[in-house]
Amino acid sequence: MKKLLTATLVLGLLGGVTLPVQASPEQDLKEFRDYFKKRFPNTPFDDLVNGVYSIDAASREQWEEIEEFPPYELNIEKGETLFNTPFANGKGYADCFDKGGIGIAHRYPFFDQESGKIVTLEGSINTCREANGEQPLGWSKGAIADISAYMHYTSRGQVINVIVPDNPAAMAAYERGKNHFYAKRGQLNMACADCHVYYSGNKIRADLLSPALGQPSGFPVYRSKWGGLGTLHRRYGGCNKQVRAKTYKSQSDEYKALQYFHTYMSNGLEINGPSARK
Ligand code: HEC
Repeated sequence: MKKLLTATLVLGLLGGVTLPVQASPEQDLKEFRDYFKKRFPNTPFDDLVNGVYSIDAASREQWEEIEEFPPYELNIEKGETLFNTPFANGKGYADCFDKGGIGIAHRYPFFDQESGKIVTLEGSINTCREANGEQPLGWSKGAIADISAYMHYTSRGQVINVIVPDNPAAMAAYERGKNHFYAKRGQLNMACADCHVYYSGNKIRADLLSPALGQPSGFPVYRSKWGGLGTLHRRYGGCNKQVRAKTYKSQSDEYKALQYFHTYMSNGLEINGPSARK
């Protein structure tokens, strides 16, 4: 009887509130775009790929000078050499990817039906190595970032096209990423969305906050602060730390889900990685 009562009570309560209808990814995307178009009316949509420089004329000029002799040029060269160096078994990265791995970075991350998991470009680089009897590379920086930089470089100008199929596992990953993005976390109790949506364009300490829309297009990024190249997941870790929140490992399911949502929100923008940042 007690059980029944509780059930009725719960049902009764639920009946009284309007439950938020789960928005579809398409609806989320439309709202996200409309928000940033209104927030930065002077920034052409395509220019959002340039992060904070798309909204800050003051630092843009200096950054454009840097991009003329980009600090990541050597990384692209190293990445190209690594990409074309055969494995011990004589095969190479080109054998693992569609189109020989050239000009395909805009399709990542994607949902893999077979494994039910999100696949990232860096993840695929290591999957390829292991399938060919090689040790996986360390995530976040170094050789994997160089190879990723080369693969992104060959994909510059391709339009980001992340697909969320109508599949429960894909939707769950999308929702997990969305939740990470909007949930308050850390001692400072701040969400990604607080800094990169609601406060974007404002300063936090000495830094102007970039709009979230467009952020993934420039990765991997050469940061003067890092003195080198880093992946998007390396940046996620840094931003989690900024609010003194728990960090996740690069290529963890959590960051892959976050990347899935975050990159989906940049659909329609061109890949322009690698790029240079402060
Ligand atoms: C307390 C504020 C704050 C929070 C919260 C925060 N960030 Fe950041 N983030 C920054 C600052 C400052 C920078 C450097 C300036 C810029 O590009 O916005 C930055 C930079 C970035 C960049 C690099 C942008 C580029 O163009 O190179 C990415 C990507 C990013 N953040 C993603 C995230 C994600 C995802 C979250 C949530 C896990 C998050 N940030 C949470 C402050 C924050």
